Amino acid sequence: MAVEHNPPFVTSRRGLLLGAVAAVPALSLFGSPAWAGDAPAMDQGAMGMDRADHPGFPTGSVPPDRAGIDPTAILRDFDKGQVSTLPDGRILREWEITALDRDFEIAPGVIFPGWTYNGRIPGPTLWAQEGDALRIHFTNASSHPHTMHFHGVHTAEMDGTPGVGPGNIAPGSTFTYEFDATPFGTHLYHCHTSPLAVHIAKGLYGGFIIEPKAGREPADDEMVMVMNGYNTDGGDNNEFYSVNGLPFHFMDNPVKVKKGALVRIHLINVLEYDPINSFHLHANFFHYYPTGTMLTPSEFTDTVSQVQGQRGMLELRFPYVGRYMFHAHKTEFAELGWIGFFEVTE
Ligand code: CU
Ligand code: CU
Repeated sequence: MAVEHNPPFVTSRRGLLLGAVAAVPALSLFGSPAWAGDAPAMDQGAMGMDRADHPGFPTGSVPPDRAGIDPTAILRDFDKGQVSTLPDGRILREWEITALDRDFEIAPGVIFPGWTYNGRIPGPTLWAQEGDALRIHFTNASSHPHTMHFHGVHTAEMDGTPGVGPGNIAPGSTFTYEFDATPFGTHLYHCHTSPLAVHIAKGLYGGFIIEPKAGREPADDEMVMVMNGYNTDGGDNNEFYSVNGLPFHFMDNPVKVKKGALVRIHLINVLEYDPINSFHLHANFFHYYPTGTMLTPSEFTDTVSQVQGQRGMLELRFPYVGRYMFHAHKTEFAELGWIGFFEVTE
């Protein structure tokens, strides 16, 4: 992977990161032979270096129970709601979603004061089938006004936009968003209250998956990966990056998959402050379905990029057992947490 050269940006971010995490003098992590060469016979980990052998770099992920976020559990946690049948025979799915303020330990010693849907970052992955009737009972139990803005086709009143329909939902208030599940695809929802960047970056987002009415080829393993970032110093950039909410988690807890199994990944980018995010898989290729709205893939690749709000579906099989890295192909994001492994077994 290429080394990024962007001194002012990188330096300030690195300095903050180094200061926040370990209070050691800032040093360049790029191109410096110090940590790469001096380390005595240590396991070479991420990006050909080990996170433990150069000072100032986070030395591992926070255990999920301490962090308050479990990215592995989030991977395969599709919330299909409370299901009932309407008089016309259609399926009705209902969810209770509550906005809550909650602190998370996203990196060792780094507490992030989050705003959440149901106490999670990312929020619950809502799952429906094309044509289902959906009701999302939203309660705002947080300290700020919020909305739930869904990507999909619906009326203006149900769009979760400030100044339209119910607009912002004030603390202590409730509103039920009601619309049909269409079109099928890999979607998302997020708060749309101003200042928007802050409301999103604080953690108010989640996946919204609509399965085609006729279904897809059954996957052996289906998962959601939400790419996000954390602005921990109140500036206008991120100090940490992750998939499913916890930096470096999948380095320490690889995604376990079976050799030859059809793996389907709903990949969603909600990253605020940085214009582009990416997903790169080592030693393998995947079929890519942009926005998941077609039944045939448009690309066969090992790297895909997404701007904020962009998302898509990946399908792949691992032909060999072993550990295969995946990460943002933006080196800096990878080194600040957006990196992990698949662990493929027989
Ligand atoms: Cu909000
Ligand atoms: Cu959006």
